[in-house]
Amino acid sequence: MTKIVLLEKIHASAVAHLQSQGFADIVQIPRALSGTELTDALSDADAVGIRSNTHLSGETLNGLSHLRTIGCFCIGTNQVDLTAATTLGIPVFNAPFSNTRSVAELVIAQAILLLRRIPEKNVRTHRGLWDKSAQGAYEVRNKVLGIVGYGNIGAQVGILAESVGMRVCYYDPESKLPLGNARPLPTLDALMEQADVVTLHVPGGAATENLITQERIALMKSSAVLINAARGKVVDIDALNRALRDKKLAGAALDVYPAEPRSEKEEFISPLRGLENVILTPHIGGSTEEAQDNIGREVADKLARFLKAGTTRSAVNFPEIAHVEKEVKSRILHVHRNEPGVIARMNADFAASGLNIVAQQLQTRGAIGYAITDVDDAISADLMTTLCSEPATIRCHLV
Ligand code: NAI
Repeated sequence: MTKIVLLEKIHASAVAHLQSQGFADIVQIPRALSGTELTDALSDADAVGIRSNTHLSGETLNGLSHLRTIGCFCIGTNQVDLTAATTLGIPVFNAPFSNTRSVAELVIAQAILLLRRIPEKNVRTHRGLWDKSAQGAYEVRNKVLGIVGYGNIGAQVGILAESVGMRVCYYDPESKLPLGNARPLPTLDALMEQADVVTLHVPGGAATENLITQERIALMKSSAVLINAARGKVVDIDALNRALRDKKLAGAALDVYPAEPRSEKEEFISPLRGLENVILTPHIGGSTEEAQDNIGREVADKLARFLKAGTTRSAVNFPEIAHVEKEVKSRILHVHRNEPGVIARMNADFAASGLNIVAQQLQTRGAIGYAITDVDDAISADLMTTLCSEPATIRCHLV
């Protein structure tokens, strides 16, 4: 029976989905494991589900010959040695877009709160002050929302913003289909000048580091606000700090920072602490019950599809083969080194056993090739031994 081990309190939606797909042997361990505790728990597991605190190093994976696939029930996959997993023929899955809506909703809320100067009014009211002034407080209706990075989150923010009457423009170096009435702008500088609310939804990394420089902040209207729920290093934080203190900007909301505490025990340090009309949140843009539920179902579904049919759509490290139900007696999953002649030799082995191939899918990625072969007959143990001992074979499995 296929055994699945789920660590780190993965959402109940994952277990429910796996059970609905016929998996009964599901072991749940509510915490992260390491060392021999981890290898013992996974020694006979076909699949493991982790979140961000369980590290699967190359050394650990090398010792887990039974393990066929890994599900990261989160966005990032840094906790897994992906190169080792690929070399061992183990596809790794995650849920990169399950929290898109959660981030988009937070951004709209922040835009409304900042333009109404609510963060500042909130602090004053808590202190016992009764500041009823309307000065500097605006509706979002008819204001211009400038979206930097019109990808999954940016486009969704645009749709939600239009539903509250905002005029949406965006800048993206890629040509993107505008949704609703959104207007693409030719340059980032044009967006910085025109927007009442600038919201950042670009990827992290060297290409976007300090994208929002002092010069770009200076292009913004003094009544405008900046929202960053993308990556901390996208904004020159000292330049933003100066602009806020000098009242060159009306406010900001930040969910991500150039340096973030690694745990709840570390203090959060930022020059923006204590500033008026600035919302600071601890990287929780995507942290909602709904997102956790979505992640549970999405990753569980990817694991189930791989375990039942061998398909690898949206694997992070592996050749992708789109899902096709297994409707034949035998399906052979063959992971091999990507070199000439492997498929020809494999197919000759099928022919020599008198087997007709009903369907075959092959994809390669870098050094790895992955073939799924459907045969409407039983596969003999001898043929499996032959396929497994083909010199280029990394893994061979019958489903
Ligand atoms: P995505 O990959 O779907 O979209 C990114 C877009 O940015 C793409 O359209 C790309 O062409 C564009 N882009 C790249 N370089 C650009 C540049 N220099 N200027 C303007 N646009 C540029 O990414 P997705 O899923 O929308 O995520 C966006 C960001 O949100 C990422 O940085 C991600 O890490 C972050 N995020 C933050 C969360 C939180 O908890 N605060 C949760 C989820 C994602």
